[in-house]
Amino acid sequence: MSEKAVVIKNLYKSYGEGANKVEALKDINIEINKGEIYGIIGLSGAGKSSLVRCINLLEVPDSGSVLINGKDITKISLSELRKERKNIGMIFQHFNLLMNSTVYENIAFPLKLVKTPKAEIEKRVSELLEIVGLSDKRDVYPAQLSGGQKQRVGIARAIATKPDIIMCDEATSALDPETTKSILDLIKEINRTLKVTVIVITHEMEVIKAICDRVTMLEEGRIVESGGITDIYIEPKTDTAKKFFKAIDTELDNRVYQKALKEPGRIIKAVFRGEGSTDPCISNMIKKYDVDAAILLGNIQSMENMLVGTLVLRINGANTDEAINYLKENDVLVEVLKNG
Ligand SMILES: Nc1ncnc2c1ncn2[C@@H]1O[C@H](COP(=O)(O)OP(=O)(O)OP(=O)(O)O)[C@@H](O)[C@H]1O
Ligand SMILES: [Mg+2]
Repeated sequence: MSEKAVVIKNLYKSYGEGANKVEALKDINIEINKGEIYGIIGLSGAGKSSLVRCINLLEVPDSGSVLINGKDITKISLSELRKERKNIGMIFQHFNLLMNSTVYENIAFPLKLVKTPKAEIEKRVSELLEIVGLSDKRDVYPAQLSGGQKQRVGIARAIATKPDIIMCDEATSALDPETTKSILDLIKEINRTLKVTVIVITHEMEVIKAICDRVTMLEEGRIVESGGITDIYIEPKTDTAKKFFKAIDTELDNRVYQKALKEPGRIIKAVFRGEGSTDPCISNMIKKYDVDAAILLGNIQSMENMLVGTLVLRINGANTDEAINYLKENDVLVEVLKNG
């Protein structure tokens, strides 16, 4: 089995006492594999940042354990803890750059902290500037950079000491959609080429869909759903998951669909997975079972490794049962929304 970068077991975290007590995290269990991009998603106040601070041990959990590379960091000495923290790079929403220092100095900062020799710092920072595409901005101050460029500096700084894990807490929330995409691409590239485990914390499903392999969904301090993102998209178990994915269900109040509900014919929702075209399957079904099919709604979601297509179809004919079975046999997930 693949090794675990992070294992969180029965973690509880609260703030305050008595009537003011806030239970921010309740019985959290998460296992993150080495080298994967893992998403933590939830609305404001769900407990995401609390979880981040428990993982990098800026916050001490009430109970439970946090294992980083197999070592329980709730049980180690302060000096060991400082060493372990270097293993985790942080990327922040508001970049947290030193405004009176140049790009070079910002990236060199964590290397100076661990007393890296000057010549080595010089070499490493040049490498990092290359990785994040800012070689020409080396002597510029943060105020002269765009948001996306600032975050590139933040990323270079986070990976400067070659950590095994990087955590991004709302790293793209202050950026426009296009810049978000380029930053996510960069994070993905760093994950692939440097084999860093990445933990992405966000309230945006678009971010999760773009780069994550797996995701945990938090609501009011509890895990409501965990798993591969395509699995959660295809078969969300909770309303929270459905809301986050804005799955096709939320479009079912659409006029075309509402009108079709009043007309004869069965209505089905068919979910297709994979890179292949959905066409042959549908047209084969129509030919083979002599059914009429009208598309009422359709959408395609692009996930990290897969395309997921959803079609809402009205099918008429004598053999609609067989037609539905045919789709199922061809690995299509079918839900009957209206029966005749
Ligand atoms: N230092 C603190 N003292 C008291 N309560 C806190 C503290 N930090 C967080 N909380 C509370 O814990 C709960 C979870 O907060 P947290 O910051 O972890 O949520 P979040 O998911 O990161 O939210 P956001 O998306 O707004 O950043 C909230 O109810 C919050 O008010
Ligand atoms: Mg937060």
